[in-house]
Amino acid sequence: MTKPITLAILISGNGSNLQAIIEAIETGQLNAEIKAVVSNNPEAYGLVRATRHNLHTWVINDQDYNSRKHYDEVLRHYLETIDPDYIVLAGFMRILSPGFIDAFEHRILNIHPSLLPAYKGLNTYQRALDNAETQHGVSIHLVTAELDAGPIILQASYAVEAGDRVEDLQRRGIQLEHQMFPQVLSWLSDKRLTIKEGQVFYDQALLEQPIQFDH
Ligand code: GAR
Repeated sequence: MTKPITLAILISGNGSNLQAIIEAIETGQLNAEIKAVVSNNPEAYGLVRATRHNLHTWVINDQDYNSRKHYDEVLRHYLETIDPDYIVLAGFMRILSPGFIDAFEHRILNIHPSLLPAYKGLNTYQRALDNAETQHGVSIHLVTAELDAGPIILQASYAVEAGDRVEDLQRRGIQLEHQMFPQVLSWLSDKRLTIKEGQVFYDQALLEQPIQFDH
């Protein structure tokens, strides 16, 4: 077995994506080691999940900081200490400053509940319903200084049915998310997916379009 990739997973809430990654590791589908789970929210249920699996957790409560710069410096210092191969934003609901992103250039991945570049930011399900979209989806992308705008690696789309509510889209989306993050991380671990100078390569070829998740 090759050396596992190392991860720091950043969360703010439920942590169901974290749980999916933990399970993929424990069942041998993903060759990775979670070095730490970091939360900006001391009440995040994902911290309970992490502790149950004996993972190292760290809370950097955003209520304790009055500037983004200071918060991001503390987070950066901690992550530099553990020096993971990748920083995984799994429902981390804070915007990271450009200085932070530069410090971990091309090593930060985010999952976002929309077909980016559509519906950046918050409340993606409600906005898609308001616009009577017939398709919605999930994207995993590399994080760059511009919000939700880095190169997209993997996307999954699903149909919006008549009468759907936010909860319906969320249920469909999250179920895909739980398969997608382990998939992308396992491609990184197998070196099927590589990132060089901000460009993503899949099977040695430059990824010009997001990979469509087969489901
Ligand atoms: C996920 O749906 C993820 O896509 C979303 O937060 C949820 C976290 O769920 N992230 C964003 O909206 C980022 N802009 P989880 O805590 O159960 O993994």
